[in-house]
Amino acid sequence: GQGRKIPLERTIYVGSFVHCKTLQELDICDEGAIGVDETGTIAFVERGVKDVAKVQERHGWGVCKVVRIGSTSFFFPGFIDTHIHASQYPNAGIFGKSTLLDWLNTYTFPLESSLSDLDKATRIYSRAVSRTLSHGTTTAAYYATIHVPATNLLADICLAKGQRAFVGRVCMNSDLSPDFYRDESVEAAVAASRACIDYITSIDPKYELVSPILTPRFAPSCTADCLAALGALQKETGVPAQTHIAENKSEIELVAKLFPERLNYTDVYDAAGLLTSKMILAHAVHLSDSEIATIRARDAKIAHCPASNTALTSGCARVRRLLDEGIAVGLGTDVSGGFSASVLEMVRQAIWVSRHVAMTEGDDTKLSAEEALWLGTRGGARVVGLEDRIGGFEVGKEWDAQLISMGDVEEDGEGLHAHHGPVDMFGWEGWEDRVHKWVYGGDDRNTIAVWVRGRLVHSTSGFRQ
Ligand code: GUN
Ligand code: FE
Repeated sequence: GQGRKIPLERTIYVGSFVHCKTLQELDICDEGAIGVDETGTIAFVERGVKDVAKVQERHGWGVCKVVRIGSTSFFFPGFIDTHIHASQYPNAGIFGKSTLLDWLNTYTFPLESSLSDLDKATRIYSRAVSRTLSHGTTTAAYYATIHVPATNLLADICLAKGQRAFVGRVCMNSDLSPDFYRDESVEAAVAASRACIDYITSIDPKYELVSPILTPRFAPSCTADCLAALGALQKETGVPAQTHIAENKSEIELVAKLFPERLNYTDVYDAAGLLTSKMILAHAVHLSDSEIATIRARDAKIAHCPASNTALTSGCARVRRLLDEGIAVGLGTDVSGGFSASVLEMVRQAIWVSRHVAMTEGDDTKLSAEEALWLGTRGGARVVGLEDRIGGFEVGKEWDAQLISMGDVEEDGEGLHAHHGPVDMFGWEGWEDRVHKWVYGGDDRNTIAVWVRGRLVHSTSGFRQ
């Protein structure tokens, strides 16, 4: 984390910015000026700025850096990926016609077990973190593998590259897992989890950027005593937790068989003491009404993984229902059940899935582009417990942002060029149209710079400071 130690320069970001005001509504500011202090925290947000010098004077920021962006560019909050397996990054796009349980055995366990090789882990994790940053992911809740050294390495890489991250060492002690990739005992799973918590706490004691997260893989991978031990460890340490729930019908049948004494899948985690406000549940495709009520009562959070749920034909999560219940929902790429490491792609996929639901269940289940963007930013911030620090541009929040360029066109003597990505602005659409064009037609070529906690962590040649 050398870069993290370099003091930041006070900076005013000048130009348009867009963030989510409510679930349904964007806040669009045309002539903004956002002051970010030496700690990477937003010190002021001004609108209708014609003269930056006046803003500098008013705040006593006579000496500071000014970053001005082009007229077809805007700042947007960094995306929050609430569920991604960094260890599965090389398998993105490889799933054939498999469904969850055979997918795990065919593709996933063999790849994950190979990350005992630290050189291989270094290559995979470096690429995964760089790639997600390039897609504007400023915060990610990662699953690593069962290996302590490789998991700690992922935390090192996130810190060095400047990505905000939750890094989880995967626990799996049941005989669902192959014997070459399994925890030997409950004690071993707990000891390894503690080792990762201790290491990650040592490299970032205040969890400014990187934080440990307890990660029982999912109920079928863990025995009841393992889940209970991890529940106790969560209570003791206060660290967050993440797992999978109700992703696939065969998986749910398996859970019923493995835990006959429990009411349902949700009750397996609840009985272990794991269903708390710090739990991130991935998928939640096939929950019963009573399970939804329990999740809501415990204030557990949900990571919606639309690309993965379609790829593995798991089903369509009822996101509108979850939102109506007041449950915190964010978006997860779920690489490599999901084929893309881009949260913008998940925004689109969430919209598509909601439309497929709407075709049988009615129009009010449809998610708008605004709502899906909310899930990728504000919703995600609630899911990872950082709604006071990230997710939007307010004074006191940290500058986790991406600069979106919508095809600025420049004249350099050799003609017009420098289109940033696939989205072109024809004429003068309003800002809402622009945002919609980005959502439906944009990709990482439009993401020309990315900051986390005030630090520039990614940029392309399209960005000149
Ligand atoms: N359930 C248990 N493990 C996994 C995993 O790695 N990916 C997905 N999508 N579901 C799981
Ligand atoms: Fe997953």
